[in-house]
Amino acid sequence: MSNKCVVLGVTGGIAAYKSLDIVSTLVKQDIDVRVIMTKAATEFVTPLSFQSLSKNQVIVDMFEEPKSWEIQHISLAQRADLMLIAPATANVIGKVANGIADDMLSTTIMATKAPVVFALAMNTNMYENKIVQNNIDKLKNFGYEFIEPASGRLACGDIGKGKLEKVDIICEEILSRLYEKKDLVGKKVLITAGPTISPIDPVRYITNNSSGKMGYAIAKEARDRGAEVTLISGPSSLEAPIGINFIRVKTNEEMFKAVLSKFNDSDIVVKSAAVADYKAKNYSTEKIKKGDGGLNLEFIRDNDILKNLGERKKEQILVGFAAESNNLLDNAAEKLRKKNLDYIVANDITARDTGFASDFNKVYIIDAEGNTKGLDKMTKREVARELFDLINERR
Ligand code: CTP
Repeated sequence: MSNKCVVLGVTGGIAAYKSLDIVSTLVKQDIDVRVIMTKAATEFVTPLSFQSLSKNQVIVDMFEEPKSWEIQHISLAQRADLMLIAPATANVIGKVANGIADDMLSTTIMATKAPVVFALAMNTNMYENKIVQNNIDKLKNFGYEFIEPASGRLACGDIGKGKLEKVDIICEEILSRLYEKKDLVGKKVLITAGPTISPIDPVRYITNNSSGKMGYAIAKEARDRGAEVTLISGPSSLEAPIGINFIRVKTNEEMFKAVLSKFNDSDIVVKSAAVADYKAKNYSTEKIKKGDGGLNLEFIRDNDILKNLGERKKEQILVGFAAESNNLLDNAAEKLRKKNLDYIVANDITARDTGFASDFNKVYIIDAEGNTKGLDKMTKREVARELFDLINERR
């Protein structure tokens, strides 16, 4: 996402230090971040910290000597592809809502034609104050956007709504708004991710190593391209991505039911979950006590969800995954045929640095006509991008 410029306005709230992470995350995505701080913000964090991370001069005082012939606030207002105000205090909201432009940040907000997003952070009572709520509503009506504060323990000791939303979530929102490929607008995309578990007794189960990272990356990519996304996830430590319909499940049966409830209504279905093929033949409702000898457990076959979808498929584009440890391409092509898929993404689970818990993957994408595209090792998000590029090219 190079060549994009985000102007980050930092105002004087205790959460100002978290904005350093926002800069760092956006810079890693090759975004040119320009920081404007209010005077109050500099009481919490130094401009030098923002300058070091953004590698750009930080602007604080409106009456500084301009470095070039351009007037700075106009130049930044024009350069911005998006303005993010984080943390956004009641004060800055109040100023903008009432047309007050008396420092570098408020003048730039006023002068820009780029989208402006406020990530709110303030004391719960301030947030709930009718004047603040009224200002927020007013700004919403003018097209300004808001990332609502999260709930939790606030710096002042109160518990309630007012914490700056998590940095990752804010950055996702921003990256999504900057995304140019909007080729899935109007499409419904259904994705499954993570492992499923097969319970044995109330405290024990078997599962597998799937982290869910691949499926979550696919969900975010589809969302950012404009799709209406449903992500059905088995147990995973990952945060539910924002802006999607998220359904959490545990077992094969639960995933199957959730998938069936959405399948007929979906345009593209990507099954990246590592679904358990077996369940305990006799689930014990009581905890199994240990005996002197060994333990034999009997498992029986469970639903092959994807195969079932292949049999029901009408107009849907159906994508499966094949995690293989040998004969990768042959086994994957066989799965594509048996499960009546349009595409299968094949990866070698024995490869080092890729696969389950890694952020990277090295895959082949095979289509129903037998075309195979081998991709280099890349991030899971990039794999997701390649997959939708391919689907859209062929559609
Ligand atoms: N899959 C499924 N239901 C299952 C097993 C797998 O929906 N019970 C889906 C997976 O989500 C994946 C594809 O089928 O998209 C292939 O999964 P994989 O575990 O590689 O293959 P299996 O069909 O289970 O075959 P095997 O375990 O013999 O390799």
